[in-house]
Order: sequence, then C-alpha cells, then structure tokens
Amino acid sequence: MTHTPPPASSLPPTPPPTPYDQFPYRGRPCTESHPSRLYTAAVLLGLSPAPAAVDRCRVLELACGDGSNLLSIAESLPAASCLGIDLAARHIATAQADAATLGLKNVRFMQGDLLALDPKELGEFDYIIAHGLYSWVPRPVQDRLLSLCKQHLAPGGVAFISYNVLPGWRVHSILRDFMMFHTHEQTDPRERLRGAREALTLFRELGKSSSGEMLPRRSRCRPAPSA
Ligand SMILES: C[S@@+](CC[C@H](N)C(=O)[O-])C[C@H]1O[C@@H](n2cnc3c(N)ncnc32)[C@H](O)[C@@H]1O
Repeated sequence: MTHTPPPASSLPPTPPPTPYDQFPYRGRPCTESHPSRLYTAAVLLGLSPAPAAVDRCRVLELACGDGSNLLSIAESLPAASCLGIDLAARHIATAQADAATLGLKNVRFMQGDLLALDPKELGEFDYIIAHGLYSWVPRPVQDRLLSLCKQHLAPGGVAFISYNVLPGWRVHSILRDFMMFHTHEQTDPRERLRGAREALTLFRELGKSSSGEMLPRRSRCRPAPSA
C-alpha cells in the first residue's frame, strides 16, 4: 500500500519572494535524517517507532529547500510517500523539476510558509524532518515548527529537527558574527552577500598577519602586569 500526499490545492496563497529566490541555497542529502536512521535511533533510545516497515512510511520535510534531501529519501524508499514544503518558490521549482527528471512519483513539493499552513489539510506523518531551519528563523516560526510536529506526527512518529549547538557551532558563529557586523548597514541581499565575502577576505588577511600588524593598536592585548 502506498500513501498519497495531500493535493496542491490544500496550500494557502502563494507567499511573496524571499532572498532565497534571488540567491538559491544548494542543498545536499542529510543522511542523519533518513527514516531508516531515525527508526534505528528511536529504537536504540527505547521508543517504539511506527510503522515497523520503514519502506512504507509517510515523510514530511519542512523547509525542504531545493529537495536534495527528500529526493534521495524518495528514491531510496519507493513505497514511501514524501511531501516537501518550503517558503522559496525557486527552491520548490527546482525540487519539482528534479523529481520529474528522476521520474519519482512518490514525492510532492509545495510552496508554503510554515506560519500560514492549514493544519487541517496536512494529514499525518511517520517522520517529520526540518534540517537547517530552527536556528535561523524567528521564535514564532520555531514555535510553529514544534506545534506542527505535535499535530502531524502519527503515534510513534519521529521528528528530526537540527539546530546549532556549542561547542561545535562556536567556530562558525565567530565567522557569522564577523560577517553580520560587517554588513549590518546593508539591506539589499546582493550587497549583503558582497559585504559578507569582503568580510571573509578581511578575516583571512587578518589571520595571515601573525604579528597582528593589520589590527588596530587598541585591539592588541596588553601583557599581563608582572607580579
Ligand atoms: C538554510 S536553508 C535549508 C534548506 C534545506 N533544509 C537544506 O538543509 O538544504 C533554509 C530553508 O528554510 C526555508 N524557510 C525559511 N523560513 C521558512 C518558513 N517560514 N516556511 C517555510 N520554509 C521556510 C527557506 O526558504 C530555505 O529553503
């Protein structure tokens, strides 16, 4: 038996363009989120995930981007039913085109804003995936993501929500803070991107200067006073 994802007509009105429509984000498969991995992890944690047959599961990926992850899941589980939703029209267009090229009939992609999805229309899922979203969206979207998982997970269902944590995120966050500071006056996405690249170049040049010559004098550390 296969499951049919809800029809496209169930989505609310088309959201306005996002910066991702101007600068698409290139996705890649996230092996940690594959239902077979989630099933195994859940069993090891003492849960009883359903259904026992992972190959027939229903998968929802929220903020699926260009579909790179969900397409690989759909391809590897032909009897599963997969639905991907993302805010960016360009991402969804890419995902739909790739699904058609691959001839995958068990995956659907729809444009939609998590904040505007109608819970009544979505149905029930055994696995809900949200990768690369939680740490980057405002609190209302985070809360909505959690409530969608609560509402749409089948009994025994498993949700995979990735987010940035310390200490692993520390190095990345230093670079991010540096780029954010360097571009804080820019609002145009193209200018912000240009400024972010400029910041990275500056950061690399600062790193090359082992003597700290490129740092302003006030930034240098003073030697500790001798006892
Ligand atoms: C960093 S990308 C990650 C995409 C994909 N999950 C991946 O890992 O490749 C973040 C994605 O979240 C989507 N997004 C952000 N806010 C959203 C919202 N309110 N509703 C739906 N999607 C959203 C963006 O359009 C974008 O595709």
